Amino acid sequence: MIKILTIIGARPQIIKAAAISRAVAKRNDVEEVIVHTGQHYDQNMSEIFFDELGIPKSKYNLNVGSGSHGMQTAKMIEALENVFIKESPDCVIVYGDTNSTLAGAVTASKLHIPIAHIEAGLRSFNMSMPEEINRIACDHLSSILFAPTQVAMENLRAEGFMTSHAQFSNGKGRKVLNCGDVMYDNSIYFAQIAESNSVILSTLNIKPNGFILATIHRDNNTDNPESLNSIFRALSDISETNKQDVVLPLHPRTAKLLRTLSPELFDKVIHSELMKIIEPVSFLDMIALEKNASLVMTDSGGVQKESFFFEKPCVILRPETEWVEIVEHNAGVLTDADYEQIMDGYHKLLSKKVTFPKLFGDANAAEHILDKIIIYI
Ligand code: UD1
Ligand code: UDP
Repeated sequence: MIKILTIIGARPQIIKAAAISRAVAKRNDVEEVIVHTGQHYDQNMSEIFFDELGIPKSKYNLNVGSGSHGMQTAKMIEALENVFIKESPDCVIVYGDTNSTLAGAVTASKLHIPIAHIEAGLRSFNMSMPEEINRIACDHLSSILFAPTQVAMENLRAEGFMTSHAQFSNGKGRKVLNCGDVMYDNSIYFAQIAESNSVILSTLNIKPNGFILATIHRDNNTDNPESLNSIFRALSDISETNKQDVVLPLHPRTAKLLRTLSPELFDKVIHSELMKIIEPVSFLDMIALEKNASLVMTDSGGVQKESFFFEKPCVILRPETEWVEIVEHNAGVLTDADYEQIMDGYHKLLSKKVTFPKLFGDANAAEHILDKIIIYI
């Protein structure tokens, strides 16, 4: 029996983990222990996903909560060390690029536990992003790197990962593999369930293809009053000019900062008839919104990709993206948090010929990943 220990903490990691847990449940030679760092803790940022997505209960919740990068990561490392020593797993799985990912990778590497990094090789090449720092550090500490796309494989090749001489304490070298994207698995799998289970469209009184879906949470958008203002002004103007509903499930970070940095704008958008600013929603509701939106506007990594899976054009509220395929196929436009660029990007997307090729695997990435972990650890 192989014991894998999965680290989750932030919303997207909880959702990603559902795919691997489904693959584990199909086998009898793997045991999974889930450790939740507690980075996200609101009911609708964490608990809501477990039952709905069939994720086994976490065996440990470290309850680390919010804080500065150093404080949050340090608390995680301290608590994770005890758990890893107690559980002695054969492999630690970390997802993506959050502080929970970094803490899991640093702790496991110091205890000589092999690390599998799911979503390896993504790069924005913007070293001021905390996520870029986390993903680069984590890739270097990992023994099995699961790149979700060919672009991610090429990034790793360019950084020398394919010819690396790294030797891990189990005597093995590093493996770099493209097994596809576990979020493509999840989007396809849960889209069918969302079809029959989600009532979000009728609850919000919105029509298929009659609304824009937006999400905003990236720190360089939320923490800068000018950027936050530009984005919300653009959303509000697009909504009013085109008589378009805009559905915006608001991340708690954005809610707190908009309320304090721009109270007047907050007041305006919260009372707008067309802007439907709501609490974060469940993943099934989110999929229903993505599938039925006419267009998506987001700075989220996960949401821009899901809009591609569901063949929706996407205004990417960032200066660059790790998911360059989306822009290369004209399905996304990069606008940063610039009012003019957002307006321009919105109009461009409405008139562009967009393609959505299958670039993210065969929707069985989690099973392929688990097979490879068992072979290579
Ligand atoms: C984190 C990740 C980011 C990821 C995002 C997914 C890092 C550095 N950032 O950003 O890569 O895209 O999660 O959503 O790891 N808060 C709450 N309730 C919660 C969680 C957060 O109110 O349940 C508020 C707190 O005020 C907190 C702030 O949101 O200070 C930011 O939370 P944090 O986890 O530090 O970063 P995110 O912006 O969520
Ligand atoms: N998501 C969700 N409910 C919401 C907003 C997002 O279930 O109200 C899902 C979304 O579908 C995607 C993931 O959360 O799978 C993305 O998380 P987030 O945008 O917080 O982080 P990122 O992907 O940018 O790291």
